[in-house]
Amino acid sequence: MSRNVEYAQSEAKRMLDLLLMPEDQVPAADKARIEQDTVENFANHINKGWLKYRKSMTEAGDFASVEWTGQGSMLTDTRGREFIDVLGGFGLYSAGIRHPKIVAAAKAQLDRSPQYSQEMLDPLRAHLGKVLANILPGDIQYGFFINSGTEAVDGAMKLAKLYTGKAGFIATEKAFHGKTLGPLTLMGKSTYREPLLPLLANVRHVPFGNADAVEQVLASAKQVGDGIAAMVVEPIQGEAGAIIPPDDYFPRLREICDRYGVLLIADEVQTGLGRTGTLFGVDHWNVTPDIICLGKALGGGVIPCSGFFSTAKIWECMEPNPFMHSTTTGGNPIACAAALAYINVLLEEDLAGQAKAKGEYILEKLVTLKAKYPNVLAEVRGKGLLIGMDFATDEMGWQFASGMFTRQVLTAGTFNNARTIRIEPALNISYELIDRMLVILEEVLVSINSDL
Ligand SMILES: Cc1ncc(COP(=O)(O)O)c(C=O)c1O
Repeated sequence: MSRNVEYAQSEAKRMLDLLLMPEDQVPAADKARIEQDTVENFANHINKGWLKYRKSMTEAGDFASVEWTGQGSMLTDTRGREFIDVLGGFGLYSAGIRHPKIVAAAKAQLDRSPQYSQEMLDPLRAHLGKVLANILPGDIQYGFFINSGTEAVDGAMKLAKLYTGKAGFIATEKAFHGKTLGPLTLMGKSTYREPLLPLLANVRHVPFGNADAVEQVLASAKQVGDGIAAMVVEPIQGEAGAIIPPDDYFPRLREICDRYGVLLIADEVQTGLGRTGTLFGVDHWNVTPDIICLGKALGGGVIPCSGFFSTAKIWECMEPNPFMHSTTTGGNPIACAAALAYINVLLEEDLAGQAKAKGEYILEKLVTLKAKYPNVLAEVRGKGLLIGMDFATDEMGWQFASGMFTRQVLTAGTFNNARTIRIEPALNISYELIDRMLVILEEVLVSINSDL
């Protein structure tokens, strides 16, 4: 492609003019053009591959479904078609899309000061640290803020190495901790890891939910003199399909890690902040990790915000030189304003309690549907609003996600792991929408069943 600066400017301006227009005045012809342009721009400037994977392209019929506005648990495309969102941005929209209180906080801060000078002390970051310290498990007190989940896990890995002076990690099979190089080392799926090897040295994977395997690896590492800094683990494996460990798993991990002098890092990027029916996933077993990672919902689904957090004792290793880990945009004032607003909504609306009650409600219906359509639905499980549905075959999983999409319900079904579908809506989704979703869900199961 050759350079065309004038065209770049006119194209930037064309989109900005549309953005700045009141929503009800955007001409239908412009929206139709956005639809066409978006497909073309994805193919030419983002990645053609996405167009093969996104159901918004493959299952939308003779057009692509292009996201335009959203509110609560509803998304609207450029054609004005409304979708019930039970995908929740893979855990991003715990408070729903555009929660008014979170949007208001971010807007207010935008009008005051959008980013930090990098020299003066920034009040919102410090205040967010204090607020979080008061809801995080045990004596976790200090935090470092960044923008994505993978950065949170990456920072946690650095902290563990600095504190322990050791280099190794234990991770679990099927785990997902992000895709930058550090967390990718911990990834429990070969598809994403193998083509990039070698990654960090001395990372060992064990089956999720098996505390004996962790003990064996630690004993063997000790025997051969390999230093292990930490075990990194999700309280409930999210990307793997809402896999719940046995109840004694986390208490045993805590005890084993303490015995071997290894840190326990809980990756709560997906499970944290209400998603599984408690404030944090580890709260189900009353375990305090040494380091905890948060992301996704932390910015309230409005501004990216993530962080890793630990105790005063562990944090000390970052104090002599606080530049050991730094970021220019992480923990910026708009993100912190959004995060403070999210925490306020989380507590004010009892999002964790809502997740618990609504999760039990959905799961009960799914268990009934599994009994009714056993040849289609192989297993259902979940905690709070992190629910996994296993289909009998990959093909059925794909048919299900596609059937839901054509009936205007978004679910977390992917081509990569088609057999397992996640139901992960906003924690404040209404029962009315849940019921509408469940009626459609049964309709799709019936249609798959009738094809057998
Ligand atoms: C448990 C967990 N950790 C880390 C990440 C990575 O977060 P991000 O996509 O924001 O980098 C994810 C994303 O799905 C996740 O589920």
